[in-house]
Amino acid sequence: MGVTYKNLAVLLLSIVIAAFWIGNGQADGEVNFPMPRDKIYLEECGGCHTAYAPGLLPARSWRKMMNELEDHFGEDASLEEPQQLAVLRWLTDYAADASNATPLMRRIAASIPRDAAPQRITETALFKYMHDEVPAYIWKRAKIGSPANCGACHTRANEGRYAEREVRIPK
Ligand code: HEC
Ligand code: HEC
Repeated sequence: MGVTYKNLAVLLLSIVIAAFWIGNGQADGEVNFPMPRDKIYLEECGGCHTAYAPGLLPARSWRKMMNELEDHFGEDASLEEPQQLAVLRWLTDYAADASNATPLMRRIAASIPRDAAPQRITETALFKYMHDEVPAYIWKRAKIGSPANCGACHTRANEGRYAEREVRIPK
């Protein structure tokens, strides 16, 4: 007989692990990012667009961005030095490659080449992968405008929350 108790045990174990994996993947905690608690972050980095969760990019991306705020995607987003230092500190403390990163943040960090410091979340491979089921015409809707407008669909993006059940795609 091909089926031994050992084979059966291995099979059962894989089923248990798979069930745990799937169950875990759908837990909201998996897609929630730590956010800076101080309102300065929301005020200074959430005024023109979603206050992006620092865990969406590695620390080297944020360092580069914070050094070039006077020409930030064509806008002047420069800050006074104390605010700049505080914001930089939160961005790096909660970055995708920070020591206390969640599993999703670690996946984001691992998906970005070590010698790259991407400035756009929306151009990272993992962002594209997570949104490959959103058709092109939806991104162009007036109430969305740009994939960078996370808050248009992720109703609690400013709190770092991206769970599927909190997604509402505007008409
Ligand atoms: C004066 C307005 C303004 C302020 C203030 C501002 N930004 Fe931006 N930011 C922009 C614009 C405009 C874009 C490009 C948006 C687009 O292409 O849809 C952008 C894009 C970004 C992107 C890339 C989004 C993507 O495509 O993935 C990141 C990340 C970002 N900003 C972070 C920050 C951080 C961090 C701060 C605070 C230090 C900040 N921004 C403050 C205007 C601003
Ligand atoms: C057009 C609406 C829309 C915009 C804008 C958008 N998303 Fe999404 N996002 C979705 C949809 C739809 C899903 C898939 C939900 C699912 O099946 O889990 C998703 C999934 C995700 C997930 C994975 C959630 C999960 O449960 O696995 C993350 C993280 C995420 N988006 C982050 C972002 C970030 C960061 C931005 C902005 C830079 C953004 N999204 C912009 C619609 C959008």
